[in-house]
Amino acid sequence: MAIEKIDVVIPAAGAGRRMGAAVPKQYLRIAGREILARTADIFLSLPFAGRIIIALSADDTLFDTLDTAANPRVVQVTGGRERSDSVLAGLRASQTEFTLVHDAARPMVRPADIERLVALALDDDGGILAFQSVRDTIKLADTVSDGTARSVRTEPRELLWHALTPQLFRTGLLIKALESASAKGLPVTDEASAMELAGYRPRLVSSDPGNIKITEPADLAAAEEFFRHQAP
Ligand code: CTP
Ligand code: MG
Repeated sequence: MAIEKIDVVIPAAGAGRRMGAAVPKQYLRIAGREILARTADIFLSLPFAGRIIIALSADDTLFDTLDTAANPRVVQVTGGRERSDSVLAGLRASQTEFTLVHDAARPMVRPADIERLVALALDDDGGILAFQSVRDTIKLADTVSDGTARSVRTEPRELLWHALTPQLFRTGLLIKALESASAKGLPVTDEASAMELAGYRPRLVSSDPGNIKITEPADLAAAEEFFRHQAP
């Protein structure tokens, strides 16, 4: 069965505070190309991707300097204060039944993982790329205050997953879920959490763990290494 086109929302309106660079981290170059341009490239070459909708900060001055800005499939929207506001702005510009949402700061996602997500999650509950954290024993602490935590219990490791992106949902259902979470003042750090609050159970699809969100200066070296070994 041929898959219908799927529009892609890339939230790229963040300031990159933890990176602490002179420009927002999505504009830093890795092996000669900006992170945001690299992320957009991945989706532009997927056969089932429709338009690439990029949410930018209202005071963004750098996007138009990327060759990505001139691509006729790329659409710009103005993002908001929180990531979820930026995602909502992007979703409202989506014209397809399903939409993929992917952080600008994850340029190392594997196309094969995105294809698997689409193959497995095209239903009402949708799905996300995620990976299981199997390395350490995981403790639940009794407090969130600094330095005084005591462990209450050991969490079952096999049930814990790191939530990554892309996340794939029915466009209309995700818009409703995000609006409802926002109306109730519930913070949502990813799309799946809004869908969970709305009663859905998004499918967890295993990702290559290299699909990291470039967050701090130390992440840049790993990304340089990755792209240096990639064919041009
Ligand atoms: N993002 C966004 N709109 C916001 C906040 C974040 O579109 N109001 C985007 C970022 O540009 C990034 C993605 O959401 O691509 C994930 O957010 P994060 O890694 O936290 O990026 P920043 O918010 O820019 O970084 P920091 O939290 O360190 O300031
Ligand atoms: Mg942030």
